Amino acid sequence: MTARIIDGKATAANLRQDVAGAVATLKADHGITPGLAVVLVGEDPASTVYVRNKHRQTLEAGMNSFEHRLDASVSQDKLLDLINTLNADPAVNGILVQLPLPDHIDPAAVIDTIEPAKDVDGFHVVNAGRLATGLPAMVPCTPVGCIILAKQVHADMTGLNAVVVGRSNIVGKPVAQLLLNENCTVTIAHSRTRDLAGVCRSADVLIAAVGRPEMIKGDWIKPGATVIDVGINRIPKDDGKTRLVGDVAYDEALEIAGAITPVPGGVGPMTIACLLRSTVEATCRQNGLEPML
Ligand code: GUN
Repeated sequence: MTARIIDGKATAANLRQDVAGAVATLKADHGITPGLAVVLVGEDPASTVYVRNKHRQTLEAGMNSFEHRLDASVSQDKLLDLINTLNADPAVNGILVQLPLPDHIDPAAVIDTIEPAKDVDGFHVVNAGRLATGLPAMVPCTPVGCIILAKQVHADMTGLNAVVVGRSNIVGKPVAQLLLNENCTVTIAHSRTRDLAGVCRSADVLIAAVGRPEMIKGDWIKPGATVIDVGINRIPKDDGKTRLVGDVAYDEALEIAGAITPVPGGVGPMTIACLLRSTVEATCRQNGLEPML
């Protein structure tokens, strides 16, 4: 049987509509326009595309977008000065510094400087700690997108075996935390895991976040499982052009999984939609209002 394809593009479009509705209410009822500041250092091509899309979608949702582009040679101190200015600016409710940063800048020092209440990426240790201990937190966007998509298949995830492949701070660890909050039995697997294929085969819900093109093969998947593919890898084609593939061998997986996210059009579009939602949530909290979404 062919798997159900989970439509991240449509889900993200719906979420953006909900965000736009919440923004309209914040403006009409409270005179508040949420503002998102995005900082891009250098000209990494993928980052430049992401930042352009964030800017456009932020404006489309009715929010203010503040873009700060800094030269790749900017000093760490200058970048930290900018973040401190944004921390103090009441028009800025969310701050995102696009990663990766040039080698001479320590990402931990940058993330540590962002005011936790404005940390819409949810990368600050205060937010990671709050998530881990069950307190209200700003939660990383891609993991939230993964859970929203998985819940389209499993409205109640209680008791499911969830396997996360990848242990990054941006996706692997926070998505495992969110799965635990959904009452899943969670395994975090990684490059040193013994019998990775066997571990994957135990998953009712498999989250692939390794960043290796098509690493997870069809026969690593339990028949009927839900597969959420976070990977976005550009690989060369025979004709010299390139194409995007996930961390899962999609064509093989399609024949075995019960449901699967495509690449592109799965988790990818959810990330910015969740970022917009986080910005609204941050704005509400900063103004003493209940989260609206
Ligand atoms: N680079 C790739 N993904 C992300 C993300 O979610 N947030 C930031 N800040 N940088 C990224």
